[in-house]
Amino acid sequence: MEGKITLVKTGTPGLDELFTKGGFDHSSSILVSGEPGAGKSIVALQYIYNGARIYGEAGIYVTSEQSIEKVRENAKSLGMNFAELEEKGLVKLMKIPINRGYEMADDELMREIKKEEVKRVAIDSITPLENLSPDIRGFRVRILGFIETVTANNITLLVTAEKRKTDFDNMEFSPEDFLFDGLIMMGRLRKAVSFERVLSVIKMRGTKHSEELHPVEISNSGLVIKSLEE
Ligand SMILES: Nc1ncnc2c1ncn2[C@@H]1O[C@H](COP(=O)(O)OP(=O)(O)OP(=O)(O)O)[C@@H](O)[C@H]1O
Ligand SMILES: [Mg+2]
Repeated sequence: MEGKITLVKTGTPGLDELFTKGGFDHSSSILVSGEPGAGKSIVALQYIYNGARIYGEAGIYVTSEQSIEKVRENAKSLGMNFAELEEKGLVKLMKIPINRGYEMADDELMREIKKEEVKRVAIDSITPLENLSPDIRGFRVRILGFIETVTANNITLLVTAEKRKTDFDNMEFSPEDFLFDGLIMMGRLRKAVSFERVLSVIKMRGTKHSEELHPVEISNSGLVIKSLEE
């Protein structure tokens, strides 16, 4: 098994196709960063939900801000019935309040991560931890330690982060952008009098990927990435 890299499907229609390999590397870490309402949480939810429902891989979704009931409710409006998968023990929704930060040794989360069947973890979002950290160096060290712990347990990690500004013409990167294997940016482009949601892959270590801005569509049945021809 050692050294063997298998593929992890992203769970978001149209997203796998942006990577030459057709998904994320197993045991890699991916940051989904972007502005408010860009769709980061939905991508994180679909990663866990479809990961379990379609690919049979158990997962944990950690929220820092919303109540678990609210997460279930929002997910339902997007066609995802988490309760069903929770009952089957395939998915666990957890809330770690901001004031506790993501103490990387958070007992409950660590216990879950160590379970052999758990293959996917989504942390939504890492930004409260950044706000709690007195210095950038400490923040980076804690994130790196967390990435290492999670991925060492054969888990593929997806983390979201809030970005104040996503100007695709004039990108500015945050400290966390450099720490993950992959970086996906989500934001908006102005088109005349309206905005269009877009997604772009900024980096993915070890593979080629699309360099384009892809339109994002959100509906009652979830979030999909469109190719440019559509
Ligand atoms: N059922 C739905 N149908 C259509 N659009 C929806 C639905 N549910 C949510 N949305 C859209 O998705 C957007 C929110 O997406 P999401 O929560 O993933 O954003 P986010 O990037 O996580 O934002 P934040 O940084 O504030 O957490 C909403 O602004 C809303 O327009
Ligand atoms: Mg969110």
